[in-house]
Amino acid sequence: MANLHIIDHPLIQHKISLMRDKNTGTKEFRELVSETAMLICYEATRDLPLKEIEMETPLCMARTKIVSGRKLAFVPLLRAGLGMIDGVTSLVPAAKIGHIGMFRDPETHEPVKYYAKLPEDIAERDVIIVDPMLATGNTACAAIDELKALGVKNIKFMCIISSPEGADNMMQTHPDVDIYCGVMDERLNDDKYIVPGLGDAGDRIFGTK
Ligand code: URA
Repeated sequence: MANLHIIDHPLIQHKISLMRDKNTGTKEFRELVSETAMLICYEATRDLPLKEIEMETPLCMARTKIVSGRKLAFVPLLRAGLGMIDGVTSLVPAAKIGHIGMFRDPETHEPVKYYAKLPEDIAERDVIIVDPMLATGNTACAAIDELKALGVKNIKFMCIISSPEGADNMMQTHPDVDIYCGVMDERLNDDKYIVPGLGDAGDRIFGTK
């Protein structure tokens, strides 16, 4: 069964509270998404393998560790996931970035894919999907289907806010995918927005409303 990791670090909780405030403007909101993504990514990459190398310090030779082995790709779900890319790539600059575009049909709430561009060697990479809001989970699950169909074996999902419904959906549909989120909110409303949430993450990141 998948693990649900709620990263309740005080800095993450603080930044999420600022993001919830409807008076927080686009510039600050964008910065907060990026910073929160970086902090959650710190935990999502905790199991990266290390290898020991030899290094000369100003004092002596030392055996020391660097990240090794598996290659990583981040896959933002367009468009709100783009807001998390600066933060996660500041931690793992060598990672490749793929894009999957899905929108939620406003009536059925079902995901519709309109774009996918992924690294050629995606099947050999560990993938961390990023999207600020895990609402119904249908979009995220469809993106995971897409990646699995391309041969990706090791997938994690990172969000800032999850709904209980979205996390349950993903854990049922993709029990092999660990979820990393900053907070679990109360519920979805009738329009499938997370409550209390922060509104439409894409609109708030890009200032489109
Ligand atoms: N997407 C958002 O941006 N916000 C929600 O509350 C749900 C989905």
